[in-house]
Amino acid sequence: MLRIDDFASFKRVATPFYYYDIDLFTRTADKVAELSARTGIQVHYSIKANSDHRLNDILSSRGFGADCVSGDEIDFAVGCGYDPKKIFFAGVGKTDKEICQAFQVGIGAFVVESLEEIEIVGDIARRLGRKATVSLRINPNIDPHTHHYITTGLYEDKFGISDRSFDEAVAMVRDNPCIDFYGLQFHIGSQILEVEDVVRLECEKVNDIVSRFESNGIVVRNIDLGGGLGVDYDQPDECPVPDFETWFRTIHDNLVRRPDQAVHIEPGRSLVAQAGSLITEVLYVKKGENRRFLMVDAGMNDLIRPALYGAYHKIENLSAFYEDGDLRERKVYDVVGPVCESADCFGKERLLARSRRGDRIAIRSAGAYGQVMASHYNMRPLAPAVYSDRLAEAPRKKDYFASV
Ligand code: LLP
Repeated sequence: MLRIDDFASFKRVATPFYYYDIDLFTRTADKVAELSARTGIQVHYSIKANSDHRLNDILSSRGFGADCVSGDEIDFAVGCGYDPKKIFFAGVGKTDKEICQAFQVGIGAFVVESLEEIEIVGDIARRLGRKATVSLRINPNIDPHTHHYITTGLYEDKFGISDRSFDEAVAMVRDNPCIDFYGLQFHIGSQILEVEDVVRLECEKVNDIVSRFESNGIVVRNIDLGGGLGVDYDQPDECPVPDFETWFRTIHDNLVRRPDQAVHIEPGRSLVAQAGSLITEVLYVKKGENRRFLMVDAGMNDLIRPALYGAYHKIENLSAFYEDGDLRERKVYDVVGPVCESADCFGKERLLARSRRGDRIAIRSAGAYGQVMASHYNMRPLAPAVYSDRLAEAPRKKDYFASV
């Protein structure tokens, strides 16, 4: 069950909102910072997973860098205190405007995705009288055994430069005076649970590819292994800090590192997912012909993962637990939102404590790819962030009757 220290004040906050457990988030960040210091593997947080300012301030203060995929993410990262030299600009389709923005800020490296992009980045660098530090994103053709929407390292995916184009890529970076070749980047997918097997395979491929570059006389100064560590959506409280130890150890044991060669990883989900929950209120308990619906005030516009990927998020009735001592009988519900789409469903046939209008419900593990993927669909307002240690500052539920 989601830990709430003061449920009475929690209940006064207007729903829906994203609730961030700052204690858990800080513990997670500290764990990763400690492993990074111990292994020398540098961490660039993947901002796309959650661009909450406060969470990012905490990460930048731990010395992490940022993996950005748009011009606005770059500006945001600078505003959050990330060192520009520790910002890498990836992104599958960078615009001229974004490339110029990145030069202006003085980012650490461009991660380029195609032969065409090597040419464009080199060209813009020449026109600006600059030199672009460039890593090549390689598509290693590895299956990470995850959802097909979030695999990125197979030939059929749009990402990266395939090994069949290496020779051409090598020639392009070597021959362009406006390009300073920095290294190679790999990211094979997200929500990887078989970390040991998949990352070992990734490292073996990387070792092989790095040797191929070296035999062409190219020094690989940096290896970036991307993100991808999965989290436990079924049991978010079992291991709330994901298994970073195994990830770091597998890299340490399998990646052949040259002296002076930097190694980076880009975790997104694993740093933020478990620290965030979407909190919503029961509006109606509706009896359908053959189903019981729990109609809540959050919708797919607030958290699209279940609708988009069929993703599972644990759902809990907080009021039943904190107000009634978890004594209520259990019932099966479809938990649905108010958006006019059949896909607006957070979970089908969920066994929950018997629920009532006004109960607070938590949709767990929503810290990653939750708030950032929200939309105004149906002209619904965006759910704000509320922090566990600043409950008193959160927007309060209003008494609407008084204003009619
Ligand atoms: N690096 C690159 C190049 C990436 O494309 C991604 C994520 C990451 C790092 C961070 O990966 P993570 O550690 O979060 O797995 N919206 C989807 C996930 C999309 C991931 C996109 N790329 C979801 O909700 O599951």
